[in-house]
Amino acid sequence: MTVPVFDEAFREQLDSLFLWRRDVRHFRRDPVPESVLDHMLALTCSTPSVGLSQPWRFLRVDDEARRNAVRAEFSERNAEALAAQRQSDSGAYAQLKLAGLDRAPHHIAVFCDPDPSQGRGLGRLTMPETVQWSAVMAIHSFWLAAQAHNVGLGWVSILDPERMNSLLDAPAEWRFMAYLCVGYPDEEHNTPELERRGWEKRAPERQLWISR
Ligand SMILES: Cc1cc2nc3c(=O)[nH]c(=O)nc-3n(C[C@H](O)[C@H](O)[C@H](O)COP(=O)(O)O)c2cc1C
Repeated sequence: MTVPVFDEAFREQLDSLFLWRRDVRHFRRDPVPESVLDHMLALTCSTPSVGLSQPWRFLRVDDEARRNAVRAEFSERNAEALAAQRQSDSGAYAQLKLAGLDRAPHHIAVFCDPDPSQGRGLGRLTMPETVQWSAVMAIHSFWLAAQAHNVGLGWVSILDPERMNSLLDAPAEWRFMAYLCVGYPDEEHNTPELERRGWEKRAPERQLWISR
């Protein structure tokens, strides 16, 4: 087995991958080849997980009736979120596009098995939530793997988790983590859409260490 040595050129590419990864809400309709999606999922399986439990469960939502039910669920929850906004923010919130559910060619729901037999419980007696953290890390791996194939991903969380289990016929004990819209992006940007639309800015102070 050859141990790879990562050089400067690779690091520059990796920097670009991180800087150009975006939450995508505007998609082209053409599908991503199945071999690419399979590769993204295979890479995701190398994500670290507590006790090597690999608790993530990636569920493809291909059925149009289920997709429509998810779209309706998003519209309802988004209307509630709009109503819950401060008066001063609600106009700006109403202008935001917060999901690419309308056009994304692939819909993927991610769940976490909260008590997987794999890993035999190692590492999660005092912090059982580490299982969910592992699943979140897997989503990030999947996101970066997508970007490496020039595939866009948008994370939708404006949904009721219990309702998602029922809409998608997922086992009741699985915890809904994310609904991912996946496909080729309509446009590429190196700044978040929320920043471009004036909703929020990335804060430079988050790059600084806190010392104790
Ligand atoms: C846990 C989580 C939940 C998110 N939920 C949503 C969502 O429901 N709708 C949305 O448009 N973006 C959602 N996002 C994307 C963020 O808005 C986005 O990551 C952030 O604005 C930074 O933009 P960037 O990912 O393009 O750098 C979510 C991101 C995370 C990590």
